[in-house]
Amino acid sequence: MKILLTGATGYIGSALAEHLAAAGHQVVALTRSAEPQPDRGWHAQLVGDTADPASLAGAVTPDIDGVIHLAPPSGDADVDTAVIEALATALRGTGRPFVYTSGVWVLGATGEAQEVGEEAPTDPIDIVGYRPRIEQRVLAEATEGVRAVVVRPGIVYGRGGGIPAILVERARKQGVPEYYGEEGVRWPTVHVDDLAELFVAAVERAEAGTLWHGVGEPATPVRDLARAAGRAAGVSAAPHAVPVEEAAEVFGPLFADALALDQSVSGAAARTGLGWRPGRPGVVAEIESGSY
Ligand SMILES: NC(=O)c1ccc[n+]([C@@H]2O[C@H](COP(=O)([O-])OP(=O)(O)OC[C@H]3O[C@@H](n4cnc5c(N)ncnc54)[C@H](OP(=O)(O)O)[C@@H]3O)[C@@H](O)[C@H]2O)c1
Repeated sequence: MKILLTGATGYIGSALAEHLAAAGHQVVALTRSAEPQPDRGWHAQLVGDTADPASLAGAVTPDIDGVIHLAPPSGDADVDTAVIEALATALRGTGRPFVYTSGVWVLGATGEAQEVGEEAPTDPIDIVGYRPRIEQRVLAEATEGVRAVVVRPGIVYGRGGGIPAILVERARKQGVPEYYGEEGVRWPTVHVDDLAELFVAAVERAEAGTLWHGVGEPATPVRDLARAAGRAAGVSAAPHAVPVEEAAEVFGPLFADALALDQSVSGAAARTGLGWRPGRPGVVAEIESGSY
């Protein structure tokens, strides 16, 4: 398939572009910068900015077999809705896939219940406040003949990047590993290469109107991640819990709330429904002895 990919230069997008190419697909990368990136193995590059939906007009040409939208939200629901329209309209009536990237933060705190699945109601924290509406906007395209699909990744790790890299960097800088909020906070996580394989499965075969959690491990205690981050940083001190208010001074209040969010989220549906087989090392092992 020839696939238009937004966010192709980013953390997830770089890995995904490699996996798409390895699966025999051609990546047409939509980038903000016109600077050519010949080493990335893209089939083609288009320039566009999701903050300016008009710049996306014409990006989905008739030869595009599917779209994966990874570029982050703009912060403005109207702009993001216009982006969905700009990218999905040309796919109407074709049955071609449009895969939108959301995230598990739209579920909010999941409480003591067992791992929550895709059927759980959304209760977004402020940093992703309007994102459930964008998910619904995307899924509504299924009634217009688009194979509309939503993927909600957990906290992504691997290749030395993502939010865990922040924990390692903070441990190195502060000389003590940190985690944020309450002691029992847990994060659903996914290895970036496993997640890339889920996107490939979603664009190839997920049914119209479906939503999938991209989660390898449902609920890893963040204190364990912090301890692993300390080891990766060469710091032997025990992990230190930073109150959310203090974390807000470092990361801003919205991101601090997200770091302190306690979640337990199941990624079982994608295993049964799409045959997804996440098999990379778990997050603690990866931070301690992998790429960080
Ligand atoms: N990382 C995680 O743990 C995680 C978890 C759940 C969900 N997600 C979601 O996954 C998506 C990708 O995340 P990521 O971690 O890969 O992000 P990232 O590393 O920050 O990459 C963002 C990508 O989007 C592009 N981009 C940013 N603003 C753009 C704009 N206005 N127009 C066009 N392209 C733009 C960037 O291109 P430039 O080269 O131009 O900067 C870059 O390629 C996001 O929607 C994020 O919310 C991430």
